[in-house]
Amino acid sequence: MARLAFEHLLSDEHRMIRDAAREFAQEVIAPVAAQFDKEERFPLETVRKMGEMGFMGIEVPEEYGGAGMDTLAYVLALEEISKVDAAHGTIMSVNNSLFNYAIMTFGTEEQKRKYVVPVASGQAIGAYALTEPSSGSDAANMRTRAVRKGDVYVLNGRKAWITNGTVADYFIVFAMTDPEKGHRGITAFIVEGNWPGFVRGKQEEKLGIRASATCELAFNDVEIPVENRLGEEGQGFKIAMAVLDAGRIGIAAQALGIAEAAYEASRQYVQERQAFGKPIGEFQGTGFKIADMKTRIEAARALTYNAALAKERAKKTGERYTLEASMAKLFASETAMFCAWAAVQIHGGMGYSRELPIERYFRDAKITEIYEGTSEIQCLVIARMETGLRML
Ligand code: CAA
Repeated sequence: MARLAFEHLLSDEHRMIRDAAREFAQEVIAPVAAQFDKEERFPLETVRKMGEMGFMGIEVPEEYGGAGMDTLAYVLALEEISKVDAAHGTIMSVNNSLFNYAIMTFGTEEQKRKYVVPVASGQAIGAYALTEPSSGSDAANMRTRAVRKGDVYVLNGRKAWITNGTVADYFIVFAMTDPEKGHRGITAFIVEGNWPGFVRGKQEEKLGIRASATCELAFNDVEIPVENRLGEEGQGFKIAMAVLDAGRIGIAAQALGIAEAAYEASRQYVQERQAFGKPIGEFQGTGFKIADMKTRIEAARALTYNAALAKERAKKTGERYTLEASMAKLFASETAMFCAWAAVQIHGGMGYSRELPIERYFRDAKITEIYEGTSEIQCLVIARMETGLRML
């Protein structure tokens, strides 16, 4: 197989974490992935093991329980995990780039010690609660309210489609503290899942990433101590958006992993499967699909690794990497969908059967075009950044 120039950009440390994630995914996740998907069961045991391996806090400094590596290392590891199972990839990405990143970037020293240390080391699970039943893309239009009463905020409202929701120990929750100020009246909080008034809904039944546990949350007079406010009052929407910039790089890496899995299975199959007396890869209709898949994957890789490097640079300069993150997520998720579609088509009946993981790649790919901002939202973000116009 052709080796690409990117390989030379990677340090020994990058190769080491990529190899470790590849080996772990093959040895520990591959044997159970189909079963957890079928049973729609959260893979708690493998998730804890991923924590022990350092995969739940790759960019978190070692003193806070993480692996102390860079964003490219995170992307490489997440790509390998997602190549074997996208549901494990989702769980990993929420812990790393939504939960830990939010607290490491905007949290106090105490918050980092209390919440990042257990999540980064795999002892606890984190989640991020922004979406509501009546506000998804229009995230600022939330109804959940937090009212300050002395040393606590009293939280009331509902959140929807919360990844890790049924199992998470800790949640980043966004709520309106001053509705008259619109998005500037939103505040972020760290909420513990066992506090009185915190109610979890039933696990959603989904098309794909079925082993990841998604649910609604309800808050009925949940009292949040003031020290659990993340950032300042009114800063919540900017925190939500900045954290999603990081999250979108994770989803791009996940999508890249799904696309590669679909591609690798197809590349092998077109050489083995015979029709009309020759390998099906010798038919142009099939061979050209392989060419398209490979080219799109390498373009998606370029955008995804570029976004990782942009985020790494931003750690020093403080610049935003919104454009790079949105372009990577947009293109990589559409690449995952294309490659999963092509893989099913190439495998024919076997691609449609549950005997092979191809149909799972197809079901899992779709979510990458939806969560952490739909493809349409990524286009809106990119167009706004490029033109300076406020398109909606
Ligand atoms: N970084 C920092 N600040 C940002 C920012 C960013 N990336 N993007 C916007 N902001 C700031 C703006 O500068 C602006 O600041 P001011 O208050 O100073 O004016 C403020 O935020 C408001 O920005 P906009 O006017 O652009 O806000 P908008 O209401 O027009 O919304 C949007 C923009 C892009 C549509 C945004 O709402 C959005 O991204 N929507 C999609 C939401 C989303 O991705 N949801 C996914 C849910 S999470 C999930 O899926 C998790 C899971 O469980 C896996």
